Parts: sequence; C-alpha cells; structure tokens
Amino acid sequence: MPTTFDLVVRGGVVVTASDVFKADIGIAGGKVAALGTDLEGNRVVDADGLLVLPGGVDTHVHIEQPSSGPAQMCDTFETGTASAAAGGTTTVICFATQMRGGSLKAAVEDYRVAARRARVDYTFHLTISDPTDVVLRDELPTLIDSGCRSVKVFMTYDGIGLDDAQLIRTLAAARKAGALVCVHAEHHALIAYLSERLVAAGLTAPKYHAWAKPTVVEREAISRIVAIAEVLDVPIQIFHVSGPEPAEEIARAQARGMKVWGETCPQYLTITAEDLDRPGFEGAKFMFGPAPRGTAEAEGLWRAIKTGTIGVISSDHAPTRFDDPRGKKVAGENGPFTKVPNGIPGLAARLPLIFHEGVTKGNIELSKFVDLIATRPAKLYGLFPKKGTIAVGSDADLVLFNPRAYQTLTNAGQHHGGDYTPYEGREVTGKVIATYLRGTCVFENDTVVGAIGGGSFVPRAPYAEIEPRGVFPIPFDPVTSTVLEDKPKLAAE
Ligand code: URP
Ligand code: ZN
Ligand code: ZN
Repeated sequence: MPTTFDLVVRGGVVVTASDVFKADIGIAGGKVAALGTDLEGNRVVDADGLLVLPGGVDTHVHIEQPSSGPAQMCDTFETGTASAAAGGTTTVICFATQMRGGSLKAAVEDYRVAARRARVDYTFHLTISDPTDVVLRDELPTLIDSGCRSVKVFMTYDGIGLDDAQLIRTLAAARKAGALVCVHAEHHALIAYLSERLVAAGLTAPKYHAWAKPTVVEREAISRIVAIAEVLDVPIQIFHVSGPEPAEEIARAQARGMKVWGETCPQYLTITAEDLDRPGFEGAKFMFGPAPRGTAEAEGLWRAIKTGTIGVISSDHAPTRFDDPRGKKVAGENGPFTKVPNGIPGLAARLPLIFHEGVTKGNIELSKFVDLIATRPAKLYGLFPKKGTIAVGSDADLVLFNPRAYQTLTNAGQHHGGDYTPYEGREVTGKVIATYLRGTCVFENDTVVGAIGGGSFVPRAPYAEIEPRGVFPIPFDPVTSTVLEDKPKLAAE
C-alpha cells in the first residue's frame, strides 16, 4: 500500500449500505486503496461537511437507443453520460436493442461502437424484440458470455413487445445462458383496446394516457411473467413498479421463495396522474409507461421499499425532446396520447430526488438510500463489489454530496440532450458537489468535466444471485428436459 496516494478525499462522512463513518479515502490506480485517518495524497480533496457516497449505479437507462418509428430518444452516449456524471451516477446499464427482423449480435456491435463516447462506465442489457432460433440459440449465449449478463423483454409496445410463447422461449434461453431477465410488464392487448376506445370517444389528451394504462394492466402482466418464471425457474427483475398493487405480486412471489425482484423509479414517487392534466400539451412531459398514479401509490411504494420488496431505484431515463417533431410532438402540437412517445429524462435528478423524498422526508436512513441507488443495483446485476460500494479494492467511484444544500432542479442542470425536465422548479435538499470515476473527477462546480470516452465497458461474469433455484411446480425441468426423479424440489413442498 502506498503511503502517498494518488488522491485522498479527506474528512468526509463515508456512507455505505451498512455503515456511516468519518474517514479519509486513499485512492491509487483508480481504486480505493485505504480508508483511514490522516492519509496523504499527491492531490487532496477536502470533503469536510460532505457525505461521500459510492457512485450511483443506474441499471435502467435508455441512451442512444435506435427506434423503428419517427420519434427518437435524444441522448447520445456523450450527453446521456454527462447527465449521469452530473447526477452522481458513475455506472449505467443501457440497452443494446435488437430491431425486429434484425440481428442482436449486430445491435450489440453497433452499440459498443457508440458507447466508446461514454463519460462514465457502462454495461448492456440485451433487448430482444424478435426471438428467432438464430438469436436465442446462436447469438444470445455468446453475447451473455461476453459480459452482457441481462436480457430485457417487453410485454407491450408494437414492434418490440413479445407474446407469451415468445416470452417463454426467451426466458428459457436466458436461463440456459445464465442471464437475469428484466421485464416491462403491461398487458398489451388490454392497453390497445382501451386506447382504441378512448380515441374513438374523442378522449385523446395526455391525461387519458393514465386511463389507457390502469394499474390492473401492470398487475396482471407481472402475475403472468411470474408464472412463466416459476415454471421455467428463471430469476427476473420487474422494471418500473408503479405502486403497491403490482408490488404485492412481487411480494407474493418472494414469499414463495422465488428470485423475483422489483425496481421503481423517482417518477412514481414524485409525479402523479394529475401532472398529465396540466394545461395545453404540457401533460406530455409526464408521459411514461407504466403511467403515473397518485400520492397513495407513492406512499405504498415507500412501504414496499422499506420491506425490501423493491430493492432498486433506477431512473428509466428515456428522454425525447418536448418541442420537437422527433419528440413528444411527433404527431403535432396536440397529438393524441397514443402517438406521444413514452418516457422522460431522469438520470441527473435521481440521487437528489431520492435523497429528498427518502432521507430528508424521513422515509429511509442514509444507508438504505445508498443501498437503493448503488449497492443493491450493483449486487443484482453482477457489478459488486467493483461497483456500488466504498471498500478497499473497489473502483474509486465516489460522489461528494452536500445533504444540506437546497437546490431548484432545472433543465440546464440536467446536462442532457433534452429540452425539458419534468422536475423543472422542484426544490430539493441535497446536491451532488463532485463525482469521481475511478479516481478521476467527472463533475464539479456544476460542470461536467469527464472526458468523452473516459467510460469503460464493465463485463459481468456469472454470479450467485441469479443462479436458478432448481425448484419447479412439477418434477420436470422444461429448460433442460430433465425428469427430476431423484429428489425433485417442488414449489409446493
Ligand atoms: O415510458 C417509458 N418507460 N419508456 C421507456 C421505455 C420503457 O418502457 O422502459
Ligand atoms: Zn419499460
Ligand atoms: Zn425503460
């Protein structure tokens, strides 16, 4: 261990998912080399009065994602990861997306080239929109082995959503190759029917987005994907849980011992269906799927967070511009809600919003905050302990955070490629003062200083968390075609 470190972060209060303690952090070779007192460094950063958090790990981020329609997401790797750095996030998991009829392998290759411009570290989910034999049998195992150890499936959206038979084959292939499956769970046909009826009745304003996507469509889809995961013994993560009712489906699966986990996002804790009814077309700024609910649902989500049913808070950063014919106005100034692209920006706002709503308002303790935004995501996605904590040997991804600073969120402060933030004017306590990626400053003085290309791909090796349980409802493993005669572990036992 060097006695003089490359960098020492001195005198801050270090927060991990289990401890809060005052310490200097000695950094050498981009890693945390020591935690102690009176450490000496070639450079010293004064963190007195500040919290030092592990860099945020945002496991649900849409960056530079191609689209088959005219609407386009507006962040490139350059802008999206600038926003990450500004928000205290040093690792993002974004989506290499197969276009229907196309190759997943080619999508990953293209995405790897685009991602060379990232300013923070990254890894990929593999979004499958067309689970052909070639994709599932020939492409997927190699791509998972190359370190993209999670698969994303949609149960809704034209052009990308899978039907039940496709879901079953995709989940089976993912388990065989050793990946976690992440699910956007909503009942496609019901949403399509409700949307059609609403439009036919002339109800096309943004507020009807919530009418077309009531909680029941989410609850049903979660229960269906859990059933599939149960028969195939596949670990799954349910994305963007919008309230306690869908969370209850996850809790029930967990109570049966299943490896089913839940994620929510700041928008479900801060934005409600009333925001969709803002004057004019403003409501489009708050359109995302599943739809925003109400304050009672937000309270129910906090309960699910406290019990651990929901262990990850990600941003689901999915930005399209507002005043733009490739964005929310793709169908005109007042396009029907059915044509408005879903998704909002949120990468940079995640930490301040969750700190304010969670810690400042007394919903959670500091260590739980760190667990939700960094540690648990890193563990669930196979990034821990390289990412998600402050410990000797971990990457020196650090956030200097002032828990007492008031700030008003603005679009300029998001440092993204969008022209709005749904959080414009919102006042929060807690502010990112500086962000370090592997010991290099990427954000300070309200300015992104991380170099384009400074981020690296983080491959993910197999890890225990997502090993199948070997438990089935029948004495037969349908994925390996094995009759479990010897000692079947049945779910009913
Ligand atoms: O509304 C959303 N969430 N759009 C982004 C894509 C997705 O569903 O995650
Ligand atoms: Zn989704
Ligand atoms: Zn998403």
